[in-house]
Amino acid sequence: GKGAAMVTAVAYRLAKQHAERQQVLDTLRLSREQLMEVKRRMEVQMKRGLALDTHDSASVRMLPTYVRATPDGTEHGDFLALDLGGTNFRVLMVRVRSGKRRSVEMHNKIYTISQDVMQGTGEELFDHIVHCIADFLEYMGMKGASLPLGFTFSFPCHQAGLNKGILLKWTKGFKASGCEGEDVAVLLSDAIHRMEEFDLDVVAVVNDTVGTMMSCAYEDPQCEVGLIVGTGTNACYMEEMRNVELVEGNEGLMCVNMEWGAFGDGGELDDICTEFDCAVDENSTNPGKQRFEKMISGMYLGEIVRNVLLDFTAKGLLFRGKLSERLKTRGIFETKFLSQIESDRLALRQVRSILQHLGLTSSTCDDSILVKEVCSVVSQRAAQLCGAALAAVVDKIRQNRNLNSLSISVGVDGTLYKLHPHFSSILQETLRDLAPQCNVTLLQSEDGSGKGAALITAVACRMRDA
Ligand code: GLC
Repeated sequence: GKGAAMVTAVAYRLAKQHAERQQVLDTLRLSREQLMEVKRRMEVQMKRGLALDTHDSASVRMLPTYVRATPDGTEHGDFLALDLGGTNFRVLMVRVRSGKRRSVEMHNKIYTISQDVMQGTGEELFDHIVHCIADFLEYMGMKGASLPLGFTFSFPCHQAGLNKGILLKWTKGFKASGCEGEDVAVLLSDAIHRMEEFDLDVVAVVNDTVGTMMSCAYEDPQCEVGLIVGTGTNACYMEEMRNVELVEGNEGLMCVNMEWGAFGDGGELDDICTEFDCAVDENSTNPGKQRFEKMISGMYLGEIVRNVLLDFTAKGLLFRGKLSERLKTRGIFETKFLSQIESDRLALRQVRSILQHLGLTSSTCDDSILVKEVCSVVSQRAAQLCGAALAAVVDKIRQNRNLNSLSISVGVDGTLYKLHPHFSSILQETLRDLAPQCNVTLLQSEDGSGKGAALITAVACRMRDA
């Protein structure tokens, strides 16, 4: 009768909507073949970044860091460290002891860098940094102290030595003027001199990936790779000097800062990028740049999710088709919300209450299920892409050493990696699948950028004073 026809019509409409949603989500799902292709393309770009004649046109810069060895436990002394470029800006005091009392002791204070300072002039940014250092020295009761300083500066830098770092390009929303093309160690020293209150010797400019690798290698000598999955994403690893063509010499190893976030900037990811990735890229401070990073890291994942939800809502597949102002607001899905929504322990009504907290009040139970699915598809893709890239790295190290199988550890840091309930297991699984000849242990680093910078500074001071 009529009733049955209506039920059929409703069932038909629901099935159609379901298919429509899955079709969209399928564009965000990667097959094993696609992931293997990502790994292969990453290998190509790594080789191109390392070689002199292709370096300038490679999307992955493979920047030499002048760090030639991981720590050996003889490092010691008191150091200051700065950590700029992650979720927080921090100033740290680090005491490294060697021998029987081998240990690292740290004190730190977090400072905020406002949007205004991030996007003002370079002088304002560095003056602010020096003010924070002054406040920290006062807070520690060390006013006037002059300690060697390690500067963890988590942006792509061309290094012509350990204590030099010319900023190539801002990433992650920073855009202070007058810094690109300048040596950040000099910008910092100039700001210190402008203040005329204390003097500090900038001994090392360190990428956060390198700091992370070093701090994990301090505990585990098998650690020769550093990985960050936080606001941005990037990796570094110990490469054979003979392959690092940008630096003289063929003996030994050197840590290379890959700057893999820029993978894809030469079109290598065009076939897997979705309309949502394009939207996120176009609305960023650096369109066309850091395309890989924009598919993986915390600063962008929530934005991908939001763009999918916008699309679903516009098509009447979500939130009863009502586009709220909230959903149109950039940046509402922070990493911590994504991580909460995807937590297995969370009941659906809690997902709903998170959505309500985000101001997405019109949500139903079905909406909550769908939002959770969108989050998990987007973060699964991120972890798999990260795994495919890391597979390229560990396999390169294995091949460098002519080994059939390699056991290696990777030091990992970053808010997304640490907060997300599934990221690390998907990463691990992808690695097992795509680099079966490598046995990879992921080590979570404890405050890598601070500790690692201090260890690098310690080695530099020893070599300088020797
Ligand atoms: C961005 C930076 C890179 C850094 C990464 C993680 O990709 O360019 O230098 O390591 O973020 O913070």
